[in-house]
Amino acid sequence: MTPRAQVVGPFPVGADPVEYDRRRRRVLWKMPTGLYLLGSRAGARRNLMTCSLAVQLATEPKLLGVAVESGSVTLGLVREGRSFALSLLSRQDRALVRTFAKPAEHDASARTLSGVAYLDAPATGCPAPASAVAVLDCRLERVVELGSHALLVGEVLDAVFGDEGEEAEVLRIEDTRMSYGG
Ligand SMILES: Cc1cc2nc3c(=O)[nH]c(=O)nc-3n(C[C@H](O)[C@H](O)[C@H](O)COP(=O)(O)O)c2cc1C
Repeated sequence: MTPRAQVVGPFPVGADPVEYDRRRRRVLWKMPTGLYLLGSRAGARRNLMTCSLAVQLATEPKLLGVAVESGSVTLGLVREGRSFALSLLSRQDRALVRTFAKPAEHDASARTLSGVAYLDAPATGCPAPASAVAVLDCRLERVVELGSHALLVGEVLDAVFGDEGEEAEVLRIEDTRMSYGG
């Protein structure tokens, strides 16, 4: 097995750092998690990114938090565009998760991202897949630098259901064999 480049502390007293690092990752992967596409836009540039580190943070105001990799295309677009759109996916759209685990290729005339048809969310203009079950359209409230990731805090400006309606079953990370974070 290839040793991990970096074993991150702190470690419990007496613990073997490598063993502990592995166990901690497995515990973190056990956390039940959703699976979303994060739409970002700066002018004509658009991106969709697979993300699982997303949660509601406050009810008044309505705030969402999404942790985004520090070097990602998405982070640059969100900083510039000051907004993002979080799309909930249908369980049938599991394949989209792999498609958007790398920066998307935008075809502006076909209105597709990596071949997937998108719509612009009404309040911010950020992209959402046309097949999204629901979209949370957010204005960027602040960015908190956290190291590997930056926390995007967004206020919900608009929340809509897609054509499949409210009854559609939403994709979660446990519907796939993937894990992220840890
Ligand atoms: C299951 C899964 C969950 C992911 N969750 C996140 C996430 O919450 N935040 C993140 O920044 N990247 C996440 N990623 C990685 C990004 O999708 C991938 O690195 C992304 O394409 C890079 O972003 P970019 O296209 O904006 O450069 C996840 C990938 C997978 C496969």
